[in-house]
Amino acid sequence: MSLVDHLHDFVCAVQLTEAEWRAGIKILTEIGRMSDEHRQEFILLSDTLGASMLVDAIQHRVSDGATESTVLGPFYVPGSPLRRYGESIAVKPAGPAVWVYGTVHSLDGAPLAGAEIDVWQNGDDMLYAVQDQDCPPDHLRGRFVTRRDGSYAFTAVRPTPYPIPDDGPVGRMLRATGRHPWRPAHIHMIARASGHRSLTTHIFDADSDHLDSDTVFGVKPSLSRRVETRVPDDPDRPSEIEVQASLRADLVLEPGSQRPIMDWGRTA
Ligand SMILES: [Fe+2]
Repeated sequence: MSLVDHLHDFVCAVQLTEAEWRAGIKILTEIGRMSDEHRQEFILLSDTLGASMLVDAIQHRVSDGATESTVLGPFYVPGSPLRRYGESIAVKPAGPAVWVYGTVHSLDGAPLAGAEIDVWQNGDDMLYAVQDQDCPPDHLRGRFVTRRDGSYAFTAVRPTPYPIPDDGPVGRMLRATGRHPWRPAHIHMIARASGHRSLTTHIFDADSDHLDSDTVFGVKPSLSRRVETRVPDDPDRPSEIEVQASLRADLVLEPGSQRPIMDWGRTA
């Protein structure tokens, strides 16, 4: 009922004309026609209007000290392979390697052993594996389990900024309002631990473009981390590959029950 009240208020406030009303119906029809199991233009509309992020902000408030959440995004695929500590998630070359590491703690500071970190990202072609039919499906994704001291590590590649699909009505809306379709570079993570609320978040590359204008409003300053050049004698350096950069991302989970991960659907 509140939605109807707000709709009526909007129509009155802008004194909507019949031509504007017809244009609105036309674009909603087009968005519906474009939405199917492969592309969800309505979710893209919600994301780019900031509605998805607002729902996330309301539903996933965290206590001070806990890691903040952000949107799941359209490219999550459950069932990533379980990988060893430090293993690379890149099945094929995808850019400069980055040693991503950190610890998972509870809000009271206790390390969480046996927590699961589910990660996925894009590579230097800007694509997630799920966007490329010719790509090995397990490319740039994996699940890792924390060690006794709560530590985890994996070898990622430096993520790159990427545009959301903008060849439909949502792209036209962005252009009409002087906005771009880009998201800043980030690595997606879901952290799950017994007795704790699951955390869906991103780690943003602090040196990426578009951090101040993410087209889906997903950036929170607390989630920004700098990719550091590695010192040669780092004891955690994996022996198999030359890793010249690292990124530390400690995660703090709030006690509570796990919530199911919402599937936002795919937009490409
Ligand atoms: Fe993403």
